[in-house]
This record gives sequence, structure tokens and C-alpha cells, in this order.
Amino acid sequence: MSTISKATQLLYASDQLPDIDISSESMPIFTTTAFTWNSISEAIEGYAKTKTGDGYSYIRTNNPNRTALATAITQLEGGEASLICASGMGAITSTLLTFLQSGDHIIYSNCCYGETLDVMKQLFTKFGVETTAVNIENMDEVTAALRPNTKIIYTEVVANPLMKVADVPALAKLIHKNDGLLIIDNTFTTPFAIQPLSLGADIVIHSLTKFLNGHSDALAGSVTAKKELIDQINPVSMFCGTPADPYSTWLVFRSLRTAFLRVPRQMQHAAILAKTLARDPRVQAVYHPSIESFSGHETAKKLFANDASMCGMVSFVVSEDFAQRDEFSRRLQLVHYAPTLGGVRTTYQQPVYSSHAHLSDEERRKAGITPGLIRVSVGIEPIEDILADFKQALDAFDR
Ligand SMILES: Cc1ncc(COP(=O)(O)O)c(C=O)c1O
Repeated sequence: MSTISKATQLLYASDQLPDIDISSESMPIFTTTAFTWNSISEAIEGYAKTKTGDGYSYIRTNNPNRTALATAITQLEGGEASLICASGMGAITSTLLTFLQSGDHIIYSNCCYGETLDVMKQLFTKFGVETTAVNIENMDEVTAALRPNTKIIYTEVVANPLMKVADVPALAKLIHKNDGLLIIDNTFTTPFAIQPLSLGADIVIHSLTKFLNGHSDALAGSVTAKKELIDQINPVSMFCGTPADPYSTWLVFRSLRTAFLRVPRQMQHAAILAKTLARDPRVQAVYHPSIESFSGHETAKKLFANDASMCGMVSFVVSEDFAQRDEFSRRLQLVHYAPTLGGVRTTYQQPVYSSHAHLSDEERRKAGITPGLIRVSVGIEPIEDILADFKQALDAFDR
């Protein structure tokens, strides 16, 4: 066959693994902590193979399930190599610990996952790293923040929870002037919407816990980049113990086989939900890159193929009245509160109670996060069911 579609490639990714004969139709789980050898000379050869990624020794160093998933993620992101970590946070911290040292400077989006912000503010400042938070949609502000010692720009493509859109090619151009790295968290957008490496980013990170796993039953993360960068991150991940365990890795690999069916549908339904909410008089604002009046819309048009392939997340703002919000939440019959995202069932959460709970009301309002902000992760249900559920629940705001 001359060309095979990406969807089919993903189904057949990792059918063959180095040094292991797999003839089963599905991937087995290699829960073993070690692979054994029959002699010292075999052990020496085995360790050498482990070093080049052509064999396996100890579970933290290498594992066939991680190799299988890494191959699939590398293929999806169009990179050279990937690491599979125990969580998205494991992927983020291992990567930043590799490339930052005392005296370096990092610019990061002020609109990121709450604990990513904590890593910048609490962890790296403790080690003498200079940090600057910016509004990532404002390229003038990002440019002004650049210092001679700026090593990294870090952002999500569509950022949590206000959906700010990062101009990936422009950010890459800027940081490359400094010989620095652009690190992109592609969790919200997924490689089905955008492949940041093809737009100039150096490293792409995922919380695989979210859309790519999609079944809300595993914790994992990934880092994808050129092999020479992955080879630098790998020892740090080893030292910090961030490689993922085989079972979670296997779960994500299994789920990834249907990601081509799930994620595009979630993104398409999110765009429909965003447009429907924008027309509802009870809704004060809608944040989704497909909304024309939205601040990141023009950048989004450059980055994504169309409205239906941007992001499966939508945020919207309703009244701050607690009784009304609580009634709204009780009225919802399908959509339910869950402090996660990217699953096959539609969920929501309020950043004031979860990701941004540790900030003061003043700090949150400054960042645009009010008690009326609701963040929705759109699942794979027929969209009519989800629209109907929101429509009847929004009646709570009519009283
Ligand atoms: C955009 C984003 N990045 C990273 C993370 C951290 O991922 P994990 O919970 O897998 O450590 C999250 C968690 O929600 C997230 O939303």
C-alpha cells in the first residue's frame, strides 16, 4: 500500500516491539519488574540494548508497554521520540528540571493548569529560577518579558480554564532568537487538532490522563521531542522516578486505539455547545476558540483546520448567585461535576472550587476567574442530549 491514513497507522502502531515477539492481537501487560538473562555475558548485552532502547532490564528504566505507548504518541505528535511518565505533572517537572538551572529565566502563560502555575511559582523559584507569568495572547507582553537568560517559554495551546490561545509559531520564533525552548502542553487540544512540533515547538507535553486516554481510569503523561532532547530528559525522569507503571500505560495504549473516533467528535460537539450557549440569554460569556468575538479567535483560525477541530473544552459564565448555581448543578441530569476532563462522558467543574481554589477571590478575579465560571469537558454522547440537559438546567437562572 502506498499511503496509510493516520487513523490506521495508530491502530497498528507498536505491533512490533524491540526484542519481544508479540503475536497476540492485543498488547499484553508486562507487569514484571525485571527481565532475566541466562549468563553474565547476556546481562552485559541486555544492559547495552536497554541503553539504546532495543531491550529491557529494570521496570523503571524500560518497559515494553511504555515503549509501545511512546511509539504511538511519537507518531501522533510527529516527533522523534517520547517518554511516558506517571502523570502529566511528572512529564512537566521532569522536563523543566532537565532544562532549567539556578539563574535561568522562564516565561509562562498565566492561564495554565493550576498546579503547573504552582510548579513555576513555588518549586522553581525555590531553586533560584527567575519566572515571569504573561498573558500568552499578548505577544507584546511576551516579547517584553524576554531576558538574555530566558531559556524556556511554556504554555498550553488553548489554556485552562479561559481558553486563551497561544500563537505557537510566533512564540517559537521569539524563543529561538534566545536559543531557548518552546514547551507546549497539548492536553486540551490533542494532536488531532494541532501538532505543535510541526509549528516550531521543541517539546510537547500531555496529561494522558485526559483526552488521549479518554476513559477516566488512568493517570499518565508524555513528553515528545527530538531524540536528542528526550535523551536528556530520560535520566532526570529516571532519577525522579517519574516513568509510568505498566498497567496505567497499557490502559492508555488500549484507549488510544479509539482516540480517532472519540476526540474529533468531542471537539466537534464542543464547538456546537459553545455556539448554543453563546445564544442563550442566561449565559454571560462563552470561552471557546471557535467563538468569533473571543479574544483568541483570529489566532485559532491560523492554528486549526476549522471550528470543529479546536478543543473539546468550553467555559462559560453564569450568574454568581450561589443558590442559582447550585440549583443549576442539581438540575443537570447527565452532565456531572468531576475534577477531571477529557473523558467520554460530559463533565463540568468550577475553577473557584477546584483548580483555582487556593487563590484569593481578588487574585482569581484579576485572572478573569469568577464564581460564575463553569468549565465543561464535552464527552461523546449525542450532542442533542447534552444541549437538552444544559437548556433545562439553565432555567435555574430564570428565577
Ligand atoms: C492542561 C493540563 N496539563 C497538565 C495537567 C496535569 O496532569 P496530571 O493530572 O495527569 O498530572 C492537567 C491536569 O488536569 C491539565 O489539565
